[in-house]
Amino acid sequence: MSFNNKKLITLDEFTIRQTRQFPNATGELSALLRDLSLACKMINKQVNKAGLVDIIGKYGATNIQGEEQMKLDIFSDEMLINVLRNSSECAGIASEENDDFVAFDDEYSVNSKYVVLFDPLDGSSNIDVNAPIGTIFSVYRRVSPLGQPCTLEDFQQPGTRQMAAGYIIYGSSTMLVYATKLGVNGFTLEPSIGEFCLSHPEMKCKENGKIYSLNQGNTCKLADSTKAFLEYCMQDDKENGLPLSHRYIGSMVADLHRTLIKGGIFMYPADKKNRNGKLRLMYECNPMAFIVEAAGGLASTGTQRILEVQPTELHQRVPIYIGSRNLVSKALEFVSATSELV
Ligand code: AHG
Ligand code: MN
Ligand code: MN
Repeated sequence: MSFNNKKLITLDEFTIRQTRQFPNATGELSALLRDLSLACKMINKQVNKAGLVDIIGKYGATNIQGEEQMKLDIFSDEMLINVLRNSSECAGIASEENDDFVAFDDEYSVNSKYVVLFDPLDGSSNIDVNAPIGTIFSVYRRVSPLGQPCTLEDFQQPGTRQMAAGYIIYGSSTMLVYATKLGVNGFTLEPSIGEFCLSHPEMKCKENGKIYSLNQGNTCKLADSTKAFLEYCMQDDKENGLPLSHRYIGSMVADLHRTLIKGGIFMYPADKKNRNGKLRLMYECNPMAFIVEAAGGLASTGTQRILEVQPTELHQRVPIYIGSRNLVSKALEFVSATSELV
């Protein structure tokens, strides 16, 4: 990248400019995003060292969902919590890796407007094969009164109430993709200056896509209606752009990042083993649905818009169909008819 003839816009500059469009904005959201990006730069540093130091491997503990935690999961979780605890813009957090939410009780935090939910390290099974992994976050304005610690109610809000959401992909380069209702923008980390710089302005999810993405090994466990949609994707029908190609990395961040850039559909449907699907509403599906919808795409459980699901538990799971508007609509024609799992 040349620094001479092209003006770099850093994430910070960008969010401050966005804030100026709102006369009453206080800049707190920009400051919160700066803190989140700082934590992710620190995670990025550890991710880059993953093959060098003894940070790969299982930590020997399981999280609330009974999954093995890897060391980087723990590191990333702690890094985000520590940075946000010290941030004066965050009243509390909820993380995929912790059983309960954490309310920060210092004098600044109790007066903060925002709570943050995150999946600190997404795609952890990909760490030891050097495939892309990520961090996903979601920001809500709290509903409990200022001046006291935040409450469960602040975290269990439907996705429509998100103020902002984003992800960081630790891939061949490190990128932060950030959405507000104003749109979606992508920033690439320029390592020599340690700043995320605007590289993908106004990202749009194509209306049509040529790629479908799911763990197809689960087909035998899927409802017949979902199987019928997969048959559709694999159909020999050149005139209608079929068959589609299949791609699956197994990191939601990486699969969604491709879907956002190239178009397509990503799915983690309900199956006989995971009757609500596998992915978590609050840490994975809601933030990704917010980003994809802000880019013009769609996200559904199969029967309901993801963003309108009223959460009942912090760690609840939902089936997801997300991506290009026309392809998701096509999937819904199949799966909303019947989603019976026998
Ligand atoms: P996490 O690493 O945060 O537990 O998330 C893993 C998720 C998600 O990233 C991915 O889409 C999905 O698990 C893959 O699941 P399968 O291995 O069942 O395909
Ligand atoms: Mn995840
Ligand atoms: Mn995770």
